[in-house]
Amino acid sequence: MMEEARTQSIYDVFDQESPIATEMRRLYSNIRHVHGRSTKRSFLVTSANRGEGKSTVVSHLALTVARFRGKKSLIVDADLRRPRLHQIFGVEKEPGLLECLEGSIDPLEAVKDTQIENLKVIPAGRRVRSPAHLFEGDIMAEIFEKIKFYHDFVIVDSAPIIPVSDPMLISSVVDGVLLVLLAGMTPRNVALRAKNILLDANANLLGVVVNNLSEVLPYYYDYKYYGYSEHEG
Ligand SMILES: Nc1ncnc2c1ncn2[C@@H]1O[C@H](COP(=O)(O)OP(=O)(O)O)[C@@H](O)[C@H]1O
Ligand SMILES: [Mg+2]
Repeated sequence: MMEEARTQSIYDVFDQESPIATEMRRLYSNIRHVHGRSTKRSFLVTSANRGEGKSTVVSHLALTVARFRGKKSLIVDADLRRPRLHQIFGVEKEPGLLECLEGSIDPLEAVKDTQIENLKVIPAGRRVRSPAHLFEGDIMAEIFEKIKFYHDFVIVDSAPIIPVSDPMLISSVVDGVLLVLLAGMTPRNVALRAKNILLDANANLLGVVVNNLSEVLPYYYDYKYYGYSEHEG
């Protein structure tokens, strides 16, 4: 399945009439009011563990918002351990977020163009062994202040929240957080643990995106998503 995802470009397979695009529009209309009437919004997408569909949701949601809403959109690859967005969008991997966190470049210098005019990507950047400490301190807030000034819709792909602390530290600089769960796979207690980590960090948890993997789907564009539930208490 991964091989097929690689040989087909996301630009080729993204179909704005597809069920997934419809789900992504629905998801966006559920989360867009996070900041009342403000026109600028930023979101973090995380999950309990890896392989639940974070990068897939981030990519399709960003494409949908850029295409349908015409928003100046920016994807940030903050999964420095397993970066994927540079592959999905066919952009250079460096310099990226890592170099911004180190302070060696300005965040705007890390922004890459994609084939969609109003969709940009900040890729992960250089690989380092243990990036967690880089997310501490005020640097993330400074980076976000800058990139939000120039973009309307900022969406951050991240590492899974149970094994890694980075997403928890990022959650405080975004307007809202989405938790991706794999339908029928993520055990309830694991999902609850992920939720509690976010709530303990005072994250603005907006809801859960349920990634439906129940069918064996041979092609990238067959990915299905359904459901969005308001986070309760
Ligand atoms: N709904 C889906 N249907 C089929 N394959 C999927 C679906 N969601 C994700 N995948 C595939 O599963 C793998 C993990 O998804 P990914 O989005 O990279 O997860 P994460 O970023 O959470 O680690 C990838 O190979 C991706 O292409
Ligand atoms: Mg990923």
